[in-house]
Amino acid sequence: MSKLRLGVLASGRGSNFKAILAAIQRGRLDAEVCVLISNKNSAGVLSYATQSGIPAEYLSRNNFASHQEHDAELVKIFNKYRVNFVLLAGYLKFLTPELINYYPNRILNIHPALLPSFGGEGMYGVHVHNAVLKHGCKISGATVHLVDEIYDHGPIILQKSVPVFENDTEETLAARVLKVEHEIFPIALQLFAENRIRIHDNRALICKK
Ligand code: GRF
Repeated sequence: MSKLRLGVLASGRGSNFKAILAAIQRGRLDAEVCVLISNKNSAGVLSYATQSGIPAEYLSRNNFASHQEHDAELVKIFNKYRVNFVLLAGYLKFLTPELINYYPNRILNIHPALLPSFGGEGMYGVHVHNAVLKHGCKISGATVHLVDEIYDHGPIILQKSVPVFENDTEETLAARVLKVEHEIFPIALQLFAENRIRIHDNRALICKK
């Protein structure tokens, strides 16, 4: 299989993006980040990409008449950089079925909870950790999964749990979860780089080396 040529979509500070770049630099991830696109002009991730020498583009949904036109432009940019795999690293935007179907089982997302719990529309950022704390969960964690047309629903690739403590706040829990996000996102991606993922009945099977 050809080398992973990554197109990254991100809306915020970009700590997962940094973790991916760091894994590549340390030789733990066999992939190349070809372009970073953000829907937020002020996103920290845009300046970090530029500082790191990664092509970075700002694409605002507001400049397009429809989601379809916006996503067609995304694909155009990705094709310009010969992207063959897409990462959502904190991307807070709807993806059209057209975009999702353009990269079948080739779009990976990181979610800050143990799916299928605490997923779906509106479940992002602090809302997730707030809900976990409100339910009195004893564990939470992070999930890396493929993206399909339903929010937070595609095949799960990797998960890692963390404990939830009685004195946790949204912030302390978020920080603990974020640590494992940075751990498992590159590992999950490396499984694709090694062509070890097979999808059957919406389940991801990991082949042995
Ligand atoms: C992470 O918590 C991730 O799970 C979620 O969005 C957040 C992005 O954080 N999808 P960062 O921009 O990577 O720091």
